[in-house]
Amino acid sequence: MRMRKKPNLDVRMERCEELLIREPEAWKGRWRELKPDADGLHLEIGCGKGRFTVETARLHPSTLFVAVERVADAMVIAMERARQLELTNVFFIDADAARLRDYFAPGEVDRIYLNFSDPWPSNRHAKRRLTHTDFLMRYRLVLREGGQIHFKTDNHDLYEWSLFQFPKAGYTLSEVTRNLHEHGIQGVMTDYEEKFHNLGTPINRCVATVGPLPAELKDWIDPLDRPRENAEDPV
Ligand SMILES: C[S@@+](CC[C@H](N)C(=O)[O-])C[C@H]1O[C@@H](n2cnc3c(N)ncnc32)[C@H](O)[C@@H]1O
Repeated sequence: MRMRKKPNLDVRMERCEELLIREPEAWKGRWRELKPDADGLHLEIGCGKGRFTVETARLHPSTLFVAVERVADAMVIAMERARQLELTNVFFIDADAARLRDYFAPGEVDRIYLNFSDPWPSNRHAKRRLTHTDFLMRYRLVLREGGQIHFKTDNHDLYEWSLFQFPKAGYTLSEVTRNLHEHGIQGVMTDYEEKFHNLGTPINRCVATVGPLPAELKDWIDPLDRPRENAEDPV
């Protein structure tokens, strides 16, 4: 998502200070302290302006939500929405999803939402797709056994490609649909989803559940830990 730098960003962020986790590393393994009675910890990765996270948190007050977004200009809008509703079960991290394992302990997360992730259509940039095997392996490091990824996208090519990536990383697919809203609106819409749905674009959705790790990935090493092969092409 490309956005112009918003004026007064720092002031606006400070106004939402109680929802912003400035040092997520310090909360690794301790997120439930933010809501000790939580029935689960759900992340949205790439929350953008946050319509989905905020509305889902409002509808599920017993669940703890953490939204991860690397563009602060978008995230501040999400935080303002949450603050306006006086939600106490949603928090925000201004960070790159590639670093999730620095912020969450193994098995700490119950569910991850990937909504309308950037498609990165060029093969050269495939590793930046949030459903690339490397990202799916990183999610495995923080998801509990049987934890899930809920993935929605308008992008047909990204969806079909992702349906191959999930099993490669040992996830079992269910609820696979290529027209989620065929018989009426299903669940909470995201900002992007509403836009594409109104244009008549079918919305794809699936659920991927953590299963046994495939033998060929037993020795997987995060590219972030390997010497960089090409400094021009960051992960
Ligand atoms: C196309 S927007 C979708 C926003 C929102 N989920 C929606 O459906 O309206 C994708 C968002 O993912 C964020 N994003 C992409 N890669 C990311 C990463 N590695 N870590 C954190 N956020 C990321 C982008 O900054 C952008 O805000």
